[in-house]
Amino acid sequence: MNRPIGFFDSGVGGFSVLRRAMETMHRPVTYIGDTKRMPYGLRTPQEVETFTLQCLHELEKQNPVAAVIACNTATVFALQRARETFSFPVIGVIDPACRYAVRASRTKKIALLATRATVLSGSYQKALEAVDPSVEVLSCETSDLVVAIEHGHFDDDTAEKLISRYLDQIASFPYDTLILGCTHLPLALPIFRKFFPAGSGVTLVDPAEPMLDEIARIVPKASTEEGSIEFLATGDVAAFQQVAERFLDLSGRQVNFKQLNVESMGGMK
Ligand code: DGL
Repeated sequence: MNRPIGFFDSGVGGFSVLRRAMETMHRPVTYIGDTKRMPYGLRTPQEVETFTLQCLHELEKQNPVAAVIACNTATVFALQRARETFSFPVIGVIDPACRYAVRASRTKKIALLATRATVLSGSYQKALEAVDPSVEVLSCETSDLVVAIEHGHFDDDTAEKLISRYLDQIASFPYDTLILGCTHLPLALPIFRKFFPAGSGVTLVDPAEPMLDEIARIVPKASTEEGSIEFLATGDVAAFQQVAERFLDLSGRQVNFKQLNVESMGGMK
């Protein structure tokens, strides 16, 4: 049997990475959404690190071939510790997204939408400047949209109004590249595309895309195709399952949804 690949996010955001990965990757998947304790974007750095490591310890029980932290906030505050802690490779979201964004930008004026914690950390700014010191970055935090998307509002008026509000806030900055720096946001990609259709002069960066290359580089090809997915949620499993079934194409796959009990995890609750 092929070893599974683990995916982790605070909630449904990692579905935006999983959906893309499912197109090319044929391994069993275990996906953990820490829905009970999200939004991570409003948590302290210490909480995000502790919660992320706890969830990765749960993935570790499955003997994964690698773990994908499909969450920008968790990547900011826990990627380094996770890489020091686990023997399997841990893939983060920010560096691949930054390399991709700098390549995509002609003017090197890049806007970022992300959680409050990610914006305040300055991690994107630093990672973008490490690729090209001449970049100018303007960031805007999108906490309300993250929560709305978690509750299933990724393709409706609620999402569109919030997106419009954030875009108004950055409108005076002449960016040519917009990073969707929270994995929840690309669930609403069709709405973002309405604001920035082809030819608009703005490139939308969905970090899932560069992450796929990273996954393909690090995860060895499976010996046979196995597409089963186990979803574990720390909060309301039914609500989590509903968003999964609306956003992901789960047809023809063996899928199950289970409760993961936060109280049974070690360390801080
Ligand atoms: N999806 C997460 C990210 O990419 C965080 C959402 C949250 O829990 O605040 O940052």
